[in-house]
Amino acid sequence: MDELASGTRKIVEIRGRSIGVFNVQGNYYALRNQCPHKGAPLCEGTVGGTFLPSSPHEYVYGLEASVLRCPWHGWEFDLSNGQLLFDDDGTRVKTYRVTIEHGMVVLHA
Ligand code: FES
Repeated sequence: MDELASGTRKIVEIRGRSIGVFNVQGNYYALRNQCPHKGAPLCEGTVGGTFLPSSPHEYVYGLEASVLRCPWHGWEFDLSNGQLLFDDDGTRVKTYRVTIEHGMVVLHA
């Protein structure tokens, strides 16, 4: 795969699987492009932060640049491990290792 500029993503098809590869501030992530909720193209969602658990009437925003939000219903996933943020039953999206070799982005799928 060619170089992937910071702040961009590329969705690729590998052996019948759609995978989104992200460069977020120099950190590379790759996730399956299918939301476990209703099957949306998850990797077309926004990357940003989220509101953290806090006291009533208090809004604390955090995890900037580490959350992928599904474009259909807004479920939020940790970009680094695919874990659904608000759920503790282990729901997650498959992630893949990404390395940079000789200036090229290499997806280990
Ligand atoms: S399909 Fe992703 S949150 Fe519903």
